[in-house]
Amino acid sequence: MTEAALARWRARVDAALDAALPDPARAPQRLHAAMRHGVLNGGKRMRPLLVYATGSALDASDAALDAAAVAVELIHCYSLIHDDLPAMDDDALRRGQPTVHVAFDEATAILAGDALQALAFEQLTAAPQAADVRIAMLAELARAAGVAGMCGGQALDIDATASRPPPAPMPPGAPPRAEETRLRASCLSLEYVERLHALKTGALLRCAVRLGALAGQATPAQAAALDAYAEALGLAFQIRDDLLDIEGDAATLGKTAGKDQAQDKATFPALLGRTASHARLQALSTQMQAALEALAIDTEALARLARQVVERQH
Ligand code: IPE
Ligand code: IPE
Ligand code: MG
Ligand code: MG
Ligand code: MG
Repeated sequence: MTEAALARWRARVDAALDAALPDPARAPQRLHAAMRHGVLNGGKRMRPLLVYATGSALDASDAALDAAAVAVELIHCYSLIHDDLPAMDDDALRRGQPTVHVAFDEATAILAGDALQALAFEQLTAAPQAADVRIAMLAELARAAGVAGMCGGQALDIDATASRPPPAPMPPGAPPRAEETRLRASCLSLEYVERLHALKTGALLRCAVRLGALAGQATPAQAAALDAYAEALGLAFQIRDDLLDIEGDAATLGKTAGKDQAQDKATFPALLGRTASHARLQALSTQMQAALEALAIDTEALARLARQVVERQH
């Protein structure tokens, strides 16, 4: 039953994403093709599933949730395209296929990410909710994508990455470069890494739940319990991602394994070790269950997604 609902939502968001993306036959074809490659190349669709699962637990219809589901996935896909760029993680494989800058070129990948971000907000402006709710949804997505969310988290990630590429040479007479804020991964605190994870990954996952809650008109008490669930889920998602980078293989992951250690990334296992990271994951799983139990609604789909986050193999 729940599995069928998740499959239905997955197919639904895939169709809606396809419809939202620009026609590959029209100019600029290369940009359109790159955007489609970055979005329609698979992916678990975890964020749209969270929108649908949250909204439907609060009796919102699927049609009331489509725009939010599409918007949050478009932001996520843009973040992946930029995350894979040579200036960031320099990855060649994503969702089992060449990354956008490898399949196309760097300039096209940058533009594809930019255009997907704009498209996300455009899609959300057409959500069927009343204007005040729609504006609240737009504000939620903007916060989650920006400096207080994903972009801020990516900046903390880069600051903490020891082996990032050397900066470009300075032109003669240029003012001095902004002060170097890079931290060695080995010097990081748990507090720093938790904040990094909460922003770079947690913010958008929490946003997905909040968009569902806004569409479903959650009460303040429901919204608080859903927030507690989403916060634990966000951290669990990235700890699992960090562990899979060590324990998984490229064929299963669909992305290159072992990259975090090679780049001296600030990850949970780098800081605490694998055993303590697995233990933290289990503790977060318990926290998610407790948060859902506090809700007197049907949270079966949300519980299923929580298990997927903790147990996923890719
Ligand atoms: C990968 O996200 C990037 C992180 C935030 C860890 P996902 O694991 O959700 O990637 P897809 O969408 O399924 O490819
Ligand atoms: C990326 O985290 C998070 C975002 C794209 C915002 P990672 O760099 O760990 O994601 P993967 O491992 O490349 O998917
Ligand atoms: Mg990264
Ligand atoms: Mg990466
Ligand atoms: Mg990773």
